[in-house]
Amino acid sequence: MPTSHPSGWAHADGGLRGPAWLAPPVDPNALVPQLWSTTARKVDGHLEVGGLAVADIVADHNTPAYVLDEADFRARARAFKEGFAGFDVYYAGKAFLCTAVARWVAEEGLCLDVCTNGELSIAERADFPMHRIGFHGNNKSHAELRRAVALGVGRIIVDSFAEIDRLTAITAETGLTARLMIRVTAGVEAHTHEYIATAHEDQKFGFSIASGDAAEAVRRCHAAAGLDLLGLHSHIGSQIFDTSGFEVAARRVLALHSAVTDELGIDLPEMDLGGGFGIAYTTQDDPAQPADLARALRQIVDRECRALGVEVPHLSIEPGRAIVGPAMCTVYTVGTVKEVQLDGGARRTYVSVDGGMSDNIRTALYGADYSCTLANRDSTTAPVLARVVGKHCEAGDIVVRDEFLPGDLAPGDLLAVPATGAYCRSMASNYNHVPRPPVVSVRDGVTTVVVRRETEDDLLATDIG
Ligand code: LLP
Repeated sequence: MPTSHPSGWAHADGGLRGPAWLAPPVDPNALVPQLWSTTARKVDGHLEVGGLAVADIVADHNTPAYVLDEADFRARARAFKEGFAGFDVYYAGKAFLCTAVARWVAEEGLCLDVCTNGELSIAERADFPMHRIGFHGNNKSHAELRRAVALGVGRIIVDSFAEIDRLTAITAETGLTARLMIRVTAGVEAHTHEYIATAHEDQKFGFSIASGDAAEAVRRCHAAAGLDLLGLHSHIGSQIFDTSGFEVAARRVLALHSAVTDELGIDLPEMDLGGGFGIAYTTQDDPAQPADLARALRQIVDRECRALGVEVPHLSIEPGRAIVGPAMCTVYTVGTVKEVQLDGGARRTYVSVDGGMSDNIRTALYGADYSCTLANRDSTTAPVLARVVGKHCEAGDIVVRDEFLPGDLAPGDLLAVPATGAYCRSMASNYNHVPRPPVVSVRDGVTTVVVRRETEDDLLATDIG
């Protein structure tokens, strides 16, 4: 069996046309507004965010850097809070969390979803009100649970029978009460990448409704003295545009809600429908507005509750990406521009930047699409189809798979990639011992470093020989 062979045109991903949806831009210097934070604009080719030229931000803070538009973050948080009036809105900190962001979330009146001790520590440092925190995770340790109960977090979302046992022991020992929700698996195939779909049966999260485990979990929580069960929780996945998955999930979760409240003669006052609302990464994505999503979800739940003859529970949701995703962009400096001759005469321009899969793993991990723009000048040179790659020792180290960029792009130019707020810094690594970039927030022309750049000393500090 041969283990290698000459590469052919098929490896070139369709030659030089790129994906069918990607068209050469009419004006390569213009921004596609729906991909950028609301204060982003181009002035004579210079990208500005929060009233400051990105080139000036870079002059002070270097590249690569995540630039966070505070006004945009707050506006999106507020749009969810107001659009989902009557719901509790938990910002999913896993998308991106730091002390400043936790403070903004608190100030905007949202609740916070954390899923580890580390995220809880950030919340604590930000003085986030503990009763507005939901604590997630499929494998919370005894220590994490003990701490969450002691701190009085608003709700712990339980995910396994072992966790119910741990919480029963902790509350018995401490005399404290734990407020819980039960994470259930609704058996929904959300139309998104397999790794970020979470409500089908064959994955690690939650108690299956279909197998009867979810009903059994309710019985056990109800029977335990120190556990105060608030309701059921379902999260079907991420980067979802279509409310039909929520509809199927809500129907199944409400059927369980109705069955167990009848069986045990209890009230489950709350229900959480999870997060996962999609954002625009390319011109192909058309996300809904929070108020429209709220209306759709409210109608679905009202209709099902009426059909089942149960009272509508108090609802909550957990958006992460839809709040922070568009609020950040990543700025890189171009290091090399290389044209590669493909079989069949086609050519591809590889643009190497000073970051890569260590600051944005989503392209490599999920095949995610991104776009980017030249950020430090106008160009009148015809655009070429380019691939933006990082500096890591790996061919899959791709940041933007396909984008039309000015043909005169050169080392020293700045490239900015929009919509990198969610799951980029939070999933960043030190692959190849690369220090992770800072998060620089900008508002009304003023920058604040909310997460500083790592240094090589930071990396060496953990390597104790
Ligand atoms: N609630 C729960 C229980 C979750 O597990 C998640 C995401 C969210 C809310 C927030 O989902 P969002 O609104 O941000 O889509 N690393 C992947 C996404 C993993 C999502 C994990 N859970 C990515 O980069 O796309």
